[in-house]
Amino acid sequence: MERTYIADIKNNLGKPVLVQGFVENLRDSKYMAFIVLKDISGKIQITVEKEKLPELCPVIASLTQDSVISVVGTAVENDFVKMGGVEIIPESITAESIADALPIVRKEIPATKKRPGVERSSIDQRIDYRWIDLRTDENQLMFKVQTAMVNAMREFLIDRNFIEIHTPKLIGAASESGAEVFEVKYFDRLAYLAQSPQFYKQMAMASGFERIFEVGPVFRAEKSYTQRHAAEFWMSEPEIAFADLNDDMELAEAMIKYVISYVMENCKSELEFLNKFVDKGLLERLNSVVSSDFARVTYTDAVKELEKYNDEFDYKVYWGCDLQTEHERCLTERIFKRPVFVTDYPKEIKAFYMRLNDDGKTVAAVDLLVMGIGEIIGGSQREERLDVLTERIEELGLDPKDYWWYLDLRRYGGVKHSGFGLGFERLVMYLTGISNIRDVLPFPRTTGSADF
Ligand code: 4AD
Ligand code: MG
Repeated sequence: MERTYIADIKNNLGKPVLVQGFVENLRDSKYMAFIVLKDISGKIQITVEKEKLPELCPVIASLTQDSVISVVGTAVENDFVKMGGVEIIPESITAESIADALPIVRKEIPATKKRPGVERSSIDQRIDYRWIDLRTDENQLMFKVQTAMVNAMREFLIDRNFIEIHTPKLIGAASESGAEVFEVKYFDRLAYLAQSPQFYKQMAMASGFERIFEVGPVFRAEKSYTQRHAAEFWMSEPEIAFADLNDDMELAEAMIKYVISYVMENCKSELEFLNKFVDKGLLERLNSVVSSDFARVTYTDAVKELEKYNDEFDYKVYWGCDLQTEHERCLTERIFKRPVFVTDYPKEIKAFYMRLNDDGKTVAAVDLLVMGIGEIIGGSQREERLDVLTERIEELGLDPKDYWWYLDLRRYGGVKHSGFGLGFERLVMYLTGISNIRDVLPFPRTTGSADF
């Protein structure tokens, strides 16, 4: 018999169906047994009148939470059943796998008059048993949202004639000077895990590809124990030729709005669930982002604005400082009350490949900051001038020989270009209201974690 997904049962009322999944809940009393069965598409109640079906009693007695069963039965309407007003009256129940008592508590169980509450397991314990943790509604629908997001990004870029490329993750030199790099042994020499596809995206610009993107993994040995930092994560990275920082910001704003609108249209029920159980302001915030114009401010002006709040900050703002989370939050939540592009940062706090502005002090860099998260995009116009770039590399005490081909990209015909990297997990957090990056990575690698 072919399997029916639970979501399709309403189209098969009155007919025999086979459903398969996990036992989410089981109530076994003297005369009746109720099993809540869950598959990836939904949940359904299996209702057993024990006197009518005594042969099912032994298998029901053996079931535990998260056991996996196959049920053949008939779906009927019953207004008393909460789950969509439909239940299955089974003919047979087969236990495919009986689960031991679960090693983690996925959700807090509130206290009742009869028994004390049970605390949710810590995130470390849940990550140890991630496959069990991932069975919850919240986790599964978050990955559905994420799937829609990737689709939306690709669709947006491909519609605009972008070419998708895959660049190597084993590379010869670090690109993001600020971020720590993982070293690996590569045959008889040392190599690094890519912190970004940066250099290869730029090579594709020199190849005349004009508009390219990559969605791929990046690695950073960051010792940041925050809820927003992972050691391995994904970036969506477009790069565009003959483009300056304004073109870059326009692309970023249009892409973010497109992805949000797409997800709001295609994941309505998932977002409603998240809005109800995870983040009560989610839908309102997403709606306002789609209809707002993102603010734009230079780093220098942002610092001037932020200095007014210095009394309230743990870390005082001054020109030249790297903006901290509290500053980023102040900009998005109090000063601008919408997403903000901060541009033209001091060169000392940005990567060497960013284009030096005429003031000689700042570079054509941009970060997009959003409420609740902070930076979700980092981008820039790239330095296309060979002499200026060589000087920057030397100024930083780096050896131009290590960057020979990167420098040579400018020697045989080059175009000015810009691009950005969108932190994929941070956008998932933004779109779901989930506040810890470890919860939005299926199998997270973060500082000090990873039992793999
Ligand atoms: O700002 P970043 O470091 O920019 C780059 O890597 C550039 N090569 C991008 C470009 O211009 N093509 O990183 C880009 C984004 C950040 O804005 C942030 O959203 C995310 O990647 N990100 C992280 N996400 C999770 N964990 C970390 N440790 C992250 N570091 C950066
Ligand atoms: Mg950055």
